Amino acid sequence: MTAKKGRVFSGARPTGKQHLGNYLGAVHNYVALQDEYDCVYCIVDLHALTTVEDTENLKQNTYEMALDWLAAGIRPEESIVFIQSHVLQVTELHTMLSMVTPLGKLTDLPTFKEKVRMQPHNINYGLVGYPVLMAADIMLYKTNAVPVGVDQAPHIEFTREIARSFNHRFKTQALIEPEMKITEAPKVIGIDGQQKMSKSLDNHIEIAATPEETAKRVMMMVTDPQRQRRSDPGNPDVCNVFSLHKIFSSAEEVNMVNVECRRAGIGCVDCKKLLAKNLNAHLSPFRARRAELAQKPEYVWEVLEDGNQRARVIAEQTMVEVRAAQGLP
Ligand code: TRP
Repeated sequence: MTAKKGRVFSGARPTGKQHLGNYLGAVHNYVALQDEYDCVYCIVDLHALTTVEDTENLKQNTYEMALDWLAAGIRPEESIVFIQSHVLQVTELHTMLSMVTPLGKLTDLPTFKEKVRMQPHNINYGLVGYPVLMAADIMLYKTNAVPVGVDQAPHIEFTREIARSFNHRFKTQALIEPEMKITEAPKVIGIDGQQKMSKSLDNHIEIAATPEETAKRVMMMVTDPQRQRRSDPGNPDVCNVFSLHKIFSSAEEVNMVNVECRRAGIGCVDCKKLLAKNLNAHLSPFRARRAELAQKPEYVWEVLEDGNQRARVIAEQTMVEVRAAQGLP
């Protein structure tokens, strides 16, 4: 095996079965990164505890997400796939990092302000510390690069600042300033044609759904709102069905839809049927592997346990350095 470029770490909250947005925005990229980096992928169940709606079915959601990751091509012999709360050192590093974190920096973060807007009745201490826990995740594993969506960019910038202040204050190099790798992925809009695809908005399409369920969700998709009748010409530029065609259909089909929609040569129903067919064809190998893995849930839990153990070894090495740097007895 050729030498890799360093270590990648990424985390995702256990949201259960993954949808097209998760797949195109993260999972697909996690799989690809394995060729170039040593990868550590973490199911961040502690982070999930900061928001009430994420804590339902934590165990089942962890399992379903791991199943999707493995079926999508994450290779557990190479990569570490593990559960955040099973490596206790993360909470220790979180506490230590919190001592070098100015409170104002946390409350100024756009992500914090957004959470306050979203859940004004549950502005808990953990929510303020969310980025500190994330920084602990990243630096516990001596991470060189973190693939994230743009929305998480302020958290990586924050992590870099904390690494610098900690290293400076304690005259150490124990923490590595991670590089940010913004994932170049199309923004996936939900079937409502309006908002980012998300499970909580119920506008999502699950990658593990059956072909029939997928077709049903695709048929529900909102298209160009100006196009009211079959005979009206449509505008693919504002149609979310067309956006997905560009990802999942052949160049000829994309071209055909683009031309025919504009002159009402193809109706929305046929356009959606074509998309559903291509989407199902694309996901079919993944679904077959997933069905196979789902036959042996104990294997999935073993993979996670093995990941927990491998993660703990790295984490403890880092903590030995971090504790010593601070002069703890
Ligand atoms: N905050 C990330 C999110 O909400 C999840 C996360 C937690 C994460 N720890 C991480 C992402 C470490 C990258 C690296 O999506």
